[in-house]
Amino acid sequence: MANFTETINRRSTRSVKWDRLKEVYGVEDGSDILPMWVADMDFAAPEPVIRAMKERLDHPVFGYSYICDGCKKAVADWMLDRYGWKVEYDWMQFEHGVVPAIAAFVETFSDKGDNILITSPVYPPFFTVPALQERNVIQNLLLETDGVYSVDFDSFAQAIDENEIKLFILCNPHNPGGIAWSREDLRKIAKICATKDVIVFADEIHADLMLEGKKHIPMAVASEGTGVKLVTSVAPTKTFNLAGVQAALMITEDPDLRKRLEHNAMAHGHSNLNAFAAAALTAAYEEGGPWLEELIAVIEDNMKLVIDTIPAAVPGVKVRMPDATYLLWIDYRGTGLSEEEVMDRLLNKGKLALEPGTKYSEAGRGFLRMNVAAPKSTVQEGVDRFIRAFQD
Ligand SMILES: Cc1ncc(COP(=O)(O)O)c(C=O)c1O
Repeated sequence: MANFTETINRRSTRSVKWDRLKEVYGVEDGSDILPMWVADMDFAAPEPVIRAMKERLDHPVFGYSYICDGCKKAVADWMLDRYGWKVEYDWMQFEHGVVPAIAAFVETFSDKGDNILITSPVYPPFFTVPALQERNVIQNLLLETDGVYSVDFDSFAQAIDENEIKLFILCNPHNPGGIAWSREDLRKIAKICATKDVIVFADEIHADLMLEGKKHIPMAVASEGTGVKLVTSVAPTKTFNLAGVQAALMITEDPDLRKRLEHNAMAHGHSNLNAFAAAALTAAYEEGGPWLEELIAVIEDNMKLVIDTIPAAVPGVKVRMPDATYLLWIDYRGTGLSEEEVMDRLLNKGKLALEPGTKYSEAGRGFLRMNVAAPKSTVQEGVDRFIRAFQD
């Protein structure tokens, strides 16, 4: 049994979440602030993963290593067993992260000045990475009803036509909204993009974190037969809390897309994983299933704690159970407070670091993102601090 109740002190471990509060939030002193922001967990990684990394460490030679078939098999088995997605070994191209994969995708399939489509609000690198590569980012707003997002297909198609869109970057499931897109929605997106010759990147890093029995549908499965050009990126890092280890991959069935991505990787001198990342990824996908099952129950329980307490205690605040992720998207529009006021209250009165919604583009205004992947006692502390922040 994994231990999801132990509080592990992460301060002074070079943790972005715990040790960079001053830099990220501009506070004088971050030592009394509880961080529930960036998406990593306060839980130890699964024991088989730690064991595999230790085993690798026990061999004292750290020469060049390669990604062996065992690693690819672990990925392929996971995708097939969980999602019915048959992935061939040569469809995989490994990367240090999903964000580097987004960067490689944008660089490979578009030129400076090209227009790239995203649906917002969305994870910031979806717009920052293309912008830094001097592409224009066109935002198609998701429709929002009571915190539930949906795609406005008419305006989505129109945005492609009006802007001669080359690429679309999809977040499936969606961060920050926690939406697991349905097969029908994914298929509609795929058909529109196929017709209009738009290449799709599906970021599926949160795929394994499905709640309350919801099912993840890979874009690659939903879009079968549509002819859409697709690159999917997956990783074990969100699922098994390995962000600092850095391991991800792109999966592409299309040989032409693959060739171009490989060329881009070669041009930058990469497309390998370090020896520890390969060991961790393999062990995670081979042996991490039972740990993940336990984790999901802990996340659901933590989410219920927040959902049952905060809206009852803070008038004007709403929050719903997402379909996926360990992130809550809290709607505070009913309080009438501005984002500045809310962040000031949270940081200075509540001593709690959450993410302001506008980090996810202007469309996120009025929301906060709260990460509940921590022991229940920590989440309870976060709830208490949240409530204190909003008391006059
Ligand atoms: C949607 C999404 N994509 C990518 C990442 C980060 O990916 P990586 O750490 O592999 O670059 C995150 C992290 O929160 C995320 O939410």
